[in-house]
Amino acid sequence: MRGIQISEYGPQDLKITTLPDPIPTPDQYLIAIHASATNFFDLLQISGKYQHQPRLPWISGSEFSGTVLSVPSFSSSTSKKPKYNIGDRVFGASQGGYATKVAAKEEVLHPVPSGWSFTDAAGLFVTAPTSYGALVTRAGVEKGDWVLVHAAAGGVGLAAVQIAKAFGATVIATAGTQHKLSVAKCFGADHVVDYTDANWPTLVKNLTPNKRGVDIVYDPVGMVDKSTKCIAWNGKILVIGFAAGSIEKVAMNKVLLKNISIVGLHWGAYSVNEPETIGVVWEGIFKLIKEGKFKGTVFQDKEFVGLESVPAALESLGSRGTWGKVVVKVPQEGANWDRSHFFAGIAISRLLEMSDDFRFEDMLQRA
Ligand SMILES: NC(=O)c1ccc[n+]([C@@H]2O[C@H](COP(=O)([O-])OP(=O)(O)OC[C@H]3O[C@@H](n4cnc5c(N)ncnc54)[C@H](OP(=O)(O)O)[C@@H]3O)[C@@H](O)[C@H]2O)c1
Repeated sequence: MRGIQISEYGPQDLKITTLPDPIPTPDQYLIAIHASATNFFDLLQISGKYQHQPRLPWISGSEFSGTVLSVPSFSSSTSKKPKYNIGDRVFGASQGGYATKVAAKEEVLHPVPSGWSFTDAAGLFVTAPTSYGALVTRAGVEKGDWVLVHAAAGGVGLAAVQIAKAFGATVIATAGTQHKLSVAKCFGADHVVDYTDANWPTLVKNLTPNKRGVDIVYDPVGMVDKSTKCIAWNGKILVIGFAAGSIEKVAMNKVLLKNISIVGLHWGAYSVNEPETIGVVWEGIFKLIKEGKFKGTVFQDKEFVGLESVPAALESLGSRGTWGKVVVKVPQEGANWDRSHFFAGIAISRLLEMSDDFRFEDMLQRA
C-alpha cells in the first residue's frame, strides 16, 4: 500500500512511500481507504505533541472511509460473527488514516449511510457525535430552545447547527468572516453574528425573545466568559474546545448570578467511561441522517485529491481558512496511479509552526 509514515520528529518533508499492508489482528478488519479526513490532532501528532504518540515509525492520519477487504477471524473462544462483510462501505477512525489501507476494530466502524459519498462519510466520526453528545445527551436541547453555536462554520460547529435545528431549536451562529457566516446559514442557522464585532453578546441577546438571552451556548472556541453576557437564566454553556488557543478563566459569580450550568463534553473518553452511551448517540445521528436532517459538511471551496494533497489539506485546516471538514479523496491503487514516491512540498517545520496554537488536545496533554 501507500501511506505517509512518520519515522522521526523535527524538520522533514511528509512523503508518500510504498509500505507493507497492515496485518490485521484477529479482531480487526482490513479496509481499502477511499477518503481521509483531517483533524487538528493529526497536526499535533505529526509534530510529536499529541497525547497519543505511537512508537516510531507510524502512519499518520485517523478518520477515514472505505470498503472492507477482509473481516476479523475473532478468536475460537468467542462465537462473535463479524458485523460487516467484504465489500461493505464503512467509515471510522484508526491510527494510519493517511494511507490506502488501514486495519480497524469493529467498535470504531459504522456503515456509510445510504446515498452518502465516501468523502462525506469520512468526516462524520468525530464531529457528529461530539455535537450530538453535547447538545442532546449533555444539554437536553429541545424544541423552542435558543441555541448559540460559536465557530459555527467549523467542523463541530456545522454539526451542532444541524443537530440543534433538527431538535426544533432556533440557532444563532457566530463566525469570523462573512463567507463562514453564509456557510452556517446554508446549514440551517436562523441568525448569524460576526463575533469579530466586540459587541456580539449584545447583538445575540437582542435577537432573543424579550432580549432574555440564549438557553444553550455551544463553545468550541473558548468564549465562555463573554457568553455569560448573552445567556438566559438557567442557561447551559457547553465547553467543547479551545480553538482560540487559550484556556479561559471565568469569574464564578457570573455562573451563580444567572443560575448557569457550565457543562463539559469529552467525546473521545466515552469509550472508556461510558461506552453504553456511544451506541445511543450514533443511533440518534443515523436517525437524523435518515430523516434528511443531517448532511455531510465537507469543505467545498477547494478539492484535495490523492495522498500527496494531505499536507496542503492540513495546511489549509491550520490556516483557519476552511469550513466544515477538510477531506482528501484517496484514489484506489492501480486506478490511474503510478507514483510510488511523492515528496510533498511542505516542510514539517511549517506544520510545527501551525500547531503552536494549542487547542483541546494540547490542554489534555498538559492536564
Ligand atoms: N470536546 C470534544 O470531545 C471535542 C471533539 C472534537 C473537537 N474538539 C475541539 O473543538 C475545537 C473545534 O474543532 P473543529 O474540528 O470544529 O475545528 P475546525 O474545523 O478547525 O474549526 C475551528 C473553528 O474555530 C474558530 N477559531 C476561533 N479562533 C481560532 C483560532 N485562533 N485558530 C483557529 N480557529 C479559530 C474558526 O472559526 P472562525 O474563523 O469563524 O473564528 C474555526 O473555523 C477544537 O479545539 C477541537 O480540539 C473537541
